[in-house]
Amino acid sequence: MRLVLLAALVVHVWAALRLARLSRQARPVSYDKQESLVFSYASRTMFWGGIIVGIFVVYHLLHFTWGTVHPDFRYGAVYYNLIVGFQVPLVSAFYILAMIPLGLHMYHGLWSSLQTLGANSPQYNRYRRPFAAAVALAVAVGNASIPVAVLTGILS
Ligand code: HEM
Repeated sequence: MRLVLLAALVVHVWAALRLARLSRQARPVSYDKQESLVFSYASRTMFWGGIIVGIFVVYHLLHFTWGTVHPDFRYGAVYYNLIVGFQVPLVSAFYILAMIPLGLHMYHGLWSSLQTLGANSPQYNRYRRPFAAAVALAVAVGNASIPVAVLTGILS
């Protein structure tokens, strides 16, 4: 499973860099004016959003997989590690905040990948944005609810 996750990460970064290079080659001279209605905030922050999510994942592995930055890591005790880990308010705040770039990254990524897969016709276009927004929001809010539940004592 870890090899699959690692391979997915490598392929994702490689594809993103290749796409950015192809895009630059297709239009070496940048636009005079960026049309903010067309290029949403989420689409313009894909690069830095991706870097922040990458930093989050490194911290997350140090926290819950290797336990290096965990106050009392116990190998294999996933539930215990989660509760003790999120009882540190600063750590929980970091996880909750990290869900903003993750949500934006997923929102634009989902919308854009559906277009790549061919869902780009008047018939589907009006559903693509709400669909991507709903999935990204569900993941971001769902993830954030875990540290919130620990901090408020719902999970203990
Ligand atoms: C607040 C939200 C999240 C919670 C509560 C959470 C919880 C956890 C926990 C408890 C583990 C350790 C499992 C174990 O000990 O076996 C883990 C591992 C991991 N998580 Fe998360 N996670 C969250 C968000 C994310 C996000 C957004 C990503 C990716 C962008 C992610 C990627 C991973 C990876 C790659 C591992 C390592 C799996 C391994 O050990 O091989 N997590 N997570």
